[in-house]
Amino acid sequence: MSQKPWEHAKSSGSEADPVATRFVASLDIDQRLYPHDIAGSIAHATMLHHVGLLTDDELSAITTGLNAIKSEIDEQGEAWPGWKIELEDVHMCVEAALIEKIGEPGRKLHTGRSRNDQVATDINIWINDVVVNVIQPKLDHLLHGFISLAEQYGHVVMPSFTHLQRAQPIVAGGEMMAWVDAFSHIKTERFTGVSTSFDSPLGSGAIAGSSLPLDRDMTCKQLGLVYANDNSMYSTASRDSTIDFTYALSMTSLWLSRWAEQWIIYNSTEFGFITLGDAYTTGSSMMPQKRNPDMLELIRGKTGQVYGSLVALLTMCKGLTIGYNRDLQEDKRHLFSAYDTVCDCLDIAAGIVRTTTFNEARIKQGLDRGYLDATSLAEYLVTKGVAFRTAHQIVGALVRQCDETDRYKLEQLSVDEMNAAVEAAGNDAVVTDDVYDWLGPENVVKRYQTAGNAGLTGFREQLAEWKERLNGDAE
Ligand code: ARG
Repeated sequence: MSQKPWEHAKSSGSEADPVATRFVASLDIDQRLYPHDIAGSIAHATMLHHVGLLTDDELSAITTGLNAIKSEIDEQGEAWPGWKIELEDVHMCVEAALIEKIGEPGRKLHTGRSRNDQVATDINIWINDVVVNVIQPKLDHLLHGFISLAEQYGHVVMPSFTHLQRAQPIVAGGEMMAWVDAFSHIKTERFTGVSTSFDSPLGSGAIAGSSLPLDRDMTCKQLGLVYANDNSMYSTASRDSTIDFTYALSMTSLWLSRWAEQWIIYNSTEFGFITLGDAYTTGSSMMPQKRNPDMLELIRGKTGQVYGSLVALLTMCKGLTIGYNRDLQEDKRHLFSAYDTVCDCLDIAAGIVRTTTFNEARIKQGLDRGYLDATSLAEYLVTKGVAFRTAHQIVGALVRQCDETDRYKLEQLSVDEMNAAVEAAGNDAVVTDDVYDWLGPENVVKRYQTAGNAGLTGFREQLAEWKERLNGDAE
C-alpha cells in the first residue's frame, strides 16, 4: 500500500527509502507559505461553491476547518503536528489536516486543482504580499534615513569622485539624494514592476485546465490578483514572477553594495568623512584600536548570495519543457534565501544610516586639494566666450602651472597669470576679478544650476520635493 494519499497508482511509496522521502520533500522551505496556501484554498472553495461543486455546508466546513488550521499553525509554528515530511509539502500537509479535521468535505477541496497551479498561485500571492507589506516599507524606512541625514548634514561641502579621484565639489545632501533616488527607483520601478506576479494560475489544473466549470476570474479577484486568462500551460510552467522578483532583490543588493563600499571608504582613517554608529562596527580580536565596518562589508558580501539565487533560478528554468517539472520546486529555496538576505540587509542599512555622523571639520580639512573647482573655472571661461575645448586646455595648463610652482589651488593664481594662459591658447577673452567667485568649492556648490544637480540648489529642490512626496504618502 502506498503511504502517500495521492499515490494510488503505485504499489509502494517512497517510504521504502527514507532518503528519497527527504529528497523529494520541500516542506522545510515551503512551510512559510501556509497563510497564502490557505487563502488560495479558501478562494478556490468559494469558487467551487459558486459554480455548484460544493454545497453550502461543505463550503462552510472547509472554510472553518482551514481557518482553524491557520490559527493552529500561527500559534504552534514548526511544532504544528500536521507537518509531516512524508506528505512532501505545505499543500499536502494542509489538505491532509483538513481531511482529518472535517472528513469527507475536505476530500472535495482539490477538485479541479493540482499542486502545480496551487504552488504557482501561492508564490504570486506571497510576492504581492511581501512587496507591499515588507520590502517597500523597509525601503521607505531607508529613504527616510537618508532624508534625515540630508537634513542634518545636507549643507556640508565635500568632494565627489569619479574613478575614486576627486571630481567636482558637491554638498553632502547631494549625495544623500543620490541614494534616495537609487532606492526609490528600486522601490517603485523594480518592485512594482514584478508584473507577472499579478497572474492567477489557479484553475489551470495540472497543465491543461479542467472539464469542470471553474470560474478562474472569481478566484483571481478574491486573491487580489489581476489576470486569470493566462494559458494554463504557461501559468503552471512559468516562474517568471519569481525571477522578476529575485531580479528586483538583486538590484536592491547591487545598490546596497555600492553604497556600502562608498561608506566603508568614507569611514576609513584616510578619508574620515563619516563615523559609523557603534552598534554597526566590530572590534578586532587582536588589534585593540579597531572599529571595523563589518556590517557594511557583510551587506556588500551578501550581494553574491542574492545574485547566486537569481542565476540559480534562471538556470533552473532554462531547458525545461512547457509544463510542470519537479525542478521548479527548487525555486522557493532561492527565492526565500534572496528575500531573507535582502530583508536583513535593508534593516541593517537603515540602522547604519540612522546612526552615522558626518565629520564636517575633517571633510573641510582637505577640501582645497585636488582642484575640485577646475571645471568651474572652465565654465567661467565659457561665459567669457571661450570654446569649452579651449577652456579645458587653458585650465589644464593652469593646473600644471600650480603644480610646478608649489601651489595647490587655482585661487592662488593671479588674474594676470590666468590671462597669460588664455592668451597662450590663442584666445582674446579677458579674465577679471569676478573669476574668484567661481573658484573654491564653497563658491562652486552655489553655482550649479542644472536640474538635479548635487550642489546647493539641486539638493534643496530635491529635498523639498521628497519631503512633499513623503508627506503626501503619510496623508
Ligand atoms: N512542492 C511542489 C513545488 O513546490 C508542489 C508541486 C508538486 N507538483 C507535482 N506535480 N509533483 O513545486
